[in-house]
Amino acid sequence: MNTAVTENKILNSVNILAVYRQIRQTSLDLCASLELDDYGLQAMPEVSPPKWHLAHTSWFFETFVLKAFAGDYQPFNPSFEYLFNSYYHGVGAQYPRAQRSLLSRPTLQDVLDYRTYVDTAMTVLLALSGHAQRETLLKRCELGLHHEQQHQELLCTDIKYSFSSNPLYPALGRAPQSVQTARIPPLEFREYGVQDACIGYKGSGFHFDNESPVHRYHLPQFRMANRLLTNREYLDFMKDGGYSSPGLWLADGWLWKEASNASHPHYWVQRDGDWFEYTLYGLCRLDPELPVCHVNYYEADACARWFGKRLPAEQEWEAACRQEGQVPGHADITLHPRVAGNADGLVQMFGSLWQWTRSSYAPYTGYRPAEGAIGEYNGKFMCNQLVLRGSSCVTPPGHARASYRNFFYPKDQWQFTGIRLADDP
Ligand SMILES: [Fe+2]
Repeated sequence: MNTAVTENKILNSVNILAVYRQIRQTSLDLCASLELDDYGLQAMPEVSPPKWHLAHTSWFFETFVLKAFAGDYQPFNPSFEYLFNSYYHGVGAQYPRAQRSLLSRPTLQDVLDYRTYVDTAMTVLLALSGHAQRETLLKRCELGLHHEQQHQELLCTDIKYSFSSNPLYPALGRAPQSVQTARIPPLEFREYGVQDACIGYKGSGFHFDNESPVHRYHLPQFRMANRLLTNREYLDFMKDGGYSSPGLWLADGWLWKEASNASHPHYWVQRDGDWFEYTLYGLCRLDPELPVCHVNYYEADACARWFGKRLPAEQEWEAACRQEGQVPGHADITLHPRVAGNADGLVQMFGSLWQWTRSSYAPYTGYRPAEGAIGEYNGKFMCNQLVLRGSSCVTPPGHARASYRNFFYPKDQWQFTGIRLADDP
């Protein structure tokens, strides 16, 4: 999948149509290996069927761009406003999230036709260089493209969760030939001095509203790990009774662990004493050098405590990222994280696994969501969730930033999440 869209370079009156087509095509490319039978899978309420993702991303453009800015636009099917509305009460009622797998109609072909219909109308609209609200509609289109990229990541994480329920462990793609030659760097803690860090998005490019306003944040000295924890290190935690030591766990985490009977990361499978891991390449023998993934906040926090460390605050992560000049690479989506590169300094900040922080997902002082239904995009979720920083192997190129704030509930395991430790001096 070639999605060579560079960070914050999407909005451009000249290239917007080419970028639009490229990002929309990537969603289809991610589904290229699916069978018709796969498109309705939804193994739990939090994940959505691939067909729903393909429809909902089109719904976003139809609802927030075409209906708003293309005066003569006729909806593809008026009932889709309800079927594919995710959570926007300002738009109207929504079909129940947990029942999306029941939508055998519209068919996949209907949804693909819907995408084509929306793309045709978008092509006409984007060609209107003299549109009275040109700047505003381009910005809304840009938001739609970043929204589509978020759903491309969700396509991968949701397919993985649903496929994992099948004892045949289907694959979404073929594993690349291993080119691993170097040893991973030893786990080290890098020192950062007291500072008034610049936190939030500063610049003129695209960013989500939750990254603003940019502000100064006082940080005492701290230390942060150079890389993510590996499967081997997580196994050490498990073998030392990590899942049976209540002193290591938050109260909510222990309740979750007891209720779910968890004793290992979600996609790990033990056979005849050996550990395997379900990946989007299928079931693979657990590689001890790969970063441990699909741990929830409770597991990450307990493991950090076993190490005698803690998870970083989101401001520490962002300050260290900027101080060390870390920027997202532009590698394509891969379906599983790679072994850490043996480089000096911080590694695996982007493109490997989202990293849990101990920071609650809350508004920055002065945060103001947009007016209207589009203001429901981020702000209304700022309660009871934790911030994750970085990006993952299934984050589309060009989508990540140092100031990017992802967020999930502490129990969630189906995202590509890992552990970077931090410490006090
Ligand atoms: Fe969405």
